[in-house]
Amino acid sequence: ALAPDGCPVSPRAAAFDPFERPYQLDPAEALRWSREQEPVFYSPRLGYWVVSRYDDIKAIFRDNLTFSPSIALEKITPASREAQAVLESYDYGMNRTLVNEDEPAHMARRRELLEAFSPEALEAHAPVVRRLVREKLDAIIDRGRADLVAEMFWEVPLTVALHFLGVPEEDMEQLRRFSVAHTLNTWGRPSPEQQVEVAEGVGKFWQYSGEVLRKMQARPEGHGWMYDMIEKNRQKPDVVTDNYLHSMMMAIIVAAHETTALATANAFRQLLSRPEVWTDLCDNPALIPAAAEECLRHSGSVVAWRRIATRDAEVGGVTIPEGGKILMVTASANHDPAHFENPDELDIYRDNAVDHLTFGYGSHQCMGKNLGRMEMRIFLEEFTRRLPHLELEEQEFTFLPNTSFRGPEALWVRWDPAQNPERRDP
Ligand code: HEM
Repeated sequence: ALAPDGCPVSPRAAAFDPFERPYQLDPAEALRWSREQEPVFYSPRLGYWVVSRYDDIKAIFRDNLTFSPSIALEKITPASREAQAVLESYDYGMNRTLVNEDEPAHMARRRELLEAFSPEALEAHAPVVRRLVREKLDAIIDRGRADLVAEMFWEVPLTVALHFLGVPEEDMEQLRRFSVAHTLNTWGRPSPEQQVEVAEGVGKFWQYSGEVLRKMQARPEGHGWMYDMIEKNRQKPDVVTDNYLHSMMMAIIVAAHETTALATANAFRQLLSRPEVWTDLCDNPALIPAAAEECLRHSGSVVAWRRIATRDAEVGGVTIPEGGKILMVTASANHDPAHFENPDELDIYRDNAVDHLTFGYGSHQCMGKNLGRMEMRIFLEEFTRRLPHLELEEQEFTFLPNTSFRGPEALWVRWDPAQNPERRDP
């Protein structure tokens, strides 16, 4: 892609590459220069306008008519011809859900589907979450060492997501692989060979989602958010359309688990690497909700989100032309000193942590945020109570290379089982 006329691209803007190590390791740090010197810039490598400051990103989120979310789930790296052929062979047809739907269709649909997220409805899931976390902890508690990602951080949120949606529990390992393919397909830069493999995964995920949906439609007495959608699709097929049902079935499995799994892994990493903060939580579990929120700000699991300009529009003094694609690096906004004092410090007593943009903002703000928060809290409650002497092992962290979903692929921790409070004081 070429720089737009009259807008010289600075060397740093030209070099910006979100698939390289600095951004993968720490997207907020990788964009410090931008926050300080060039808060809105065109990235020729990406073909996107990158926005890094808090106020600018919030302004974009606020105006979803000028800045449409329609590209939120578009492949950020266009499919190769081979990958395209693979997708077509599976009749792949992922289209609008909620997160990438324009007005007025979006609000009409969102309003129909709010009930499952009421505080009472969410509270009903808490015992399930707690039971799952406890079972997973029981399985490792005498071991003394574990990779928490492999042992529970993805599987518990995935099980909760399926339960919330009313999807009968299926092959979890397969769903996990599908989710990774979907993330790479949508937000990654797979190599030409990987493209075909990823397309296979995504195509199969699409087929699978269709089959699950048909099974559920044949059993209309079930409960869960997907059943709410199936019911609305019967009553108001023009609002909750057939393609929406199928697209949502696939997208929501990822949205409802990957986000929460990665957020939990990030939070444990941050908290355990500050033993004095971890001890505070063990001594005073009432601090856990604030700590979870601060972790979502400091080290969120969604680090960038997309919009497209529907007309020429100004952002932070720069004119983004009609059709300009925008990458809002929310992780950078969350480290903007203009909004958060000492932004790089993890401070569980911070009074405005909740202003973070990890759940987005405005009319599309994450509908599942309170479910995600609840899961993080329950994980922290159970671990601080049952393994207060948990320690982070020395390790190199790796990440699935992509622009938007971030969390360590493994998180090794250790503890001395002889010190387990339950053993000492049964
Ligand atoms: C939308 C993040 C958990 C369901 C979003 C958006 C983000 C996000 C960034 C786009 C917001 C925007 O455009 O303004 C997260 C994070 C989570 C999480 C960080 C966990 C820590 C969940 C869960 C569910 C869920 C558990 C479902 C049960 C949704 C839905 C939307 C959405 C349905 C679309 C809302 C709309 O467009 O109206 N989420 N999410 N999310 N999320 Fe989440």
